[in-house]
This record gives sequence, C-alpha cells and structure tokens, in this order.
Amino acid sequence: MATDASPLTAAIATGREILRASRGIVILTGAGLSADSGLTTFRDPKGHWKRHRPEDLATPEAFRRDPCLVWEWYGVRRRAAADTAPNAAHLAIAAFALRRDDVVIVTQNVDGLHTVAARQAADERSRDTSGEPAGEVAGELACRTKALPIELHGCFYRARCSACGRCYEHRDRIDTSSQQALPHCAKCSGLLRPDVVWFGEPLGEPIDRAFGYAAQSDVCVVVGTSAVVQPAASVAVVTRRAGGAIIEVNPEETPLTPMSTVSLRGTAAEVVPRLLAPGRRHG
Ligand code: OAD
Repeated sequence: MATDASPLTAAIATGREILRASRGIVILTGAGLSADSGLTTFRDPKGHWKRHRPEDLATPEAFRRDPCLVWEWYGVRRRAAADTAPNAAHLAIAAFALRRDDVVIVTQNVDGLHTVAARQAADERSRDTSGEPAGEVAGELACRTKALPIELHGCFYRARCSACGRCYEHRDRIDTSSQQALPHCAKCSGLLRPDVVWFGEPLGEPIDRAFGYAAQSDVCVVVGTSAVVQPAASVAVVTRRAGGAIIEVNPEETPLTPMSTVSLRGTAAEVVPRLLAPGRRHG
C-alpha cells in the first residue's frame, strides 16, 4: 500500500506530536492567514506596502494630514473583509482553542476574521453536542470567548475618538468626501479614527498579556506572518527563550525560521487544519 510520506506530511506529524505533549500554546497569526480568504497581505509581491507607503496610510501623522485618504483605505479593506469569510485555517484554530483549555490566539490582523471563526466554531460545536445552533446563550458565549484572539494591532470594525478616546463598534460605510462627512464622536464631536495601532504607536496592554502567555507556553505556532514587525514578532521569541518550541506555517522563510523547531512550508488553509485536527492522541 502506498503511503503519503512527503516531507510536509512528516513535518506535520512532528508538529502534532509536539502539540500533543504541550501544555500552553500560543498561536500567533498574521496577514498570510487571511490570504487564503482572499485578503491582501502587506509585504508579498502584490501586498499593500508594495503599492502604498505605510507613512501615507498607517501613521498618526498620515491621519492628521489626510483623514479622508486614511479612512478610504480602511473602508476598502473593511469591504473586502466583509465580503469574505474565515477560511479552513481560521476555523481549525478556533475549533482547537475551543477543544483545549491551554490555547491563546494572538493576532496582528485587524480584519475580525478570528472573531467570525470563533462564532462559527462555537455554533458547530454546539450543534455537535445538542443538535441546535448555539444562539446567544451565556454558556455558548463563554465558550466562544475562548476562541477570541488578543488583537495586538486592534480591529478595523471599531472606531476610536481621536480627542476623548471613546470606542465604538463601527461597520457602516464611510463617506470620505470631506472631513465633516467622516464619522465623529457622539460624546465630544471629535474625529473618529480606526481603532488600530499605527506605526510609532504603542501596543499597550495586549502585548503585555501576549508576552505573559508566551513566556508560560510550551509552544508558539506562528501562522502567516513575515515576522518583521516588532514587538509582535517577539511573541514567538519569548516562548523560544523560555525553552518552548516554535512551529512555523508559511510558504516562505522568515526571520523566525532559524529558531523554529518545525517549519511547515505551505499555505495556512492547506497546513493548519492538518496540524490542528482532532486525533486519537491529539488534544
Ligand atoms: P506580511 O504581509 O508582512 O507577511 C505576510 C506573510 O504571510 C508572509 O511571510 C508570507 O510569506 C505569508 N503568506 C502569504 N500567503 C500565505 C498563505 N496563504 N498562508 C500562510 N502564509 C502566507 O503581514 P504581517 O506579518 O501580518 O501592521 O504584517 C505585520 C504587520 O505589518 C501588520 O499587522 C501591519 C503591517 O504593516 C500595521 O499596519 C501596524
């Protein structure tokens, strides 16, 4: 009988064995995870930063200079995210986090797809156990919360007042025809900005929490990030320095590759469901 003994299959088996034996797992994700949902990454050949300059779109100075341009860019990205869905990798990550009690998802993505996947995975799990969709009941919400990510760079479906700091859930289409037409704060009338972290801004409490989990984890699974933006990329380094392993999923090498125990060269949707699938001896 023929067996599938490709190097990728063997490496996935090694990764699964590491995960099975681990207590404490951080899953660090980047734009490559959502590439399989059709969203544009930043540094790949057709990425945002090959067509635009970050200093024109993703800095506080850019927003002060031209808030309409910045909102327009986020508006385009929000529509692309709203028109797509979590892929098999988002769903496998969410299901894995729901099955185990020691998984923390940390993302650099601002597209909200982990949150959609958390809901779908919780519904799926509930259907499996009760035959009914989860609905908005407290137990299922608590369950879903386990699969919600720490969002290191914020989320573009939230807006924050640039004057008083008040936060809003914000999904409406944005009129970028003039500064007056942009969304403003209901409390102080200040201009709202996307609730994301821009270059030069601190990541605050979320990165401290992520580092805390990373230091206590046996393994960091890194999916679809070029690992060149700090401090996010250091989440994996913290786990490694504390004696844990790194399992990297990426079609390309990154600065984390030399310190990775297992490098899985493939796309997120191809590899992650195989890595995290339930199994006889898998959590
Ligand atoms: P990048 O665009 O820098 O890197 C995307 C990574 O995903 C690359 O390493 C690709 O090889 C990999 N990749 C591409 N397609 C993939 C697929 N289908 N499956 C798995 N991996 C794939 O994106 P990030 O690392 O997320 O920050 O970028 C980090 C930060 O830089 C972003 O959060 C953003 C950006 O500037 C801010 O805007 C502050």
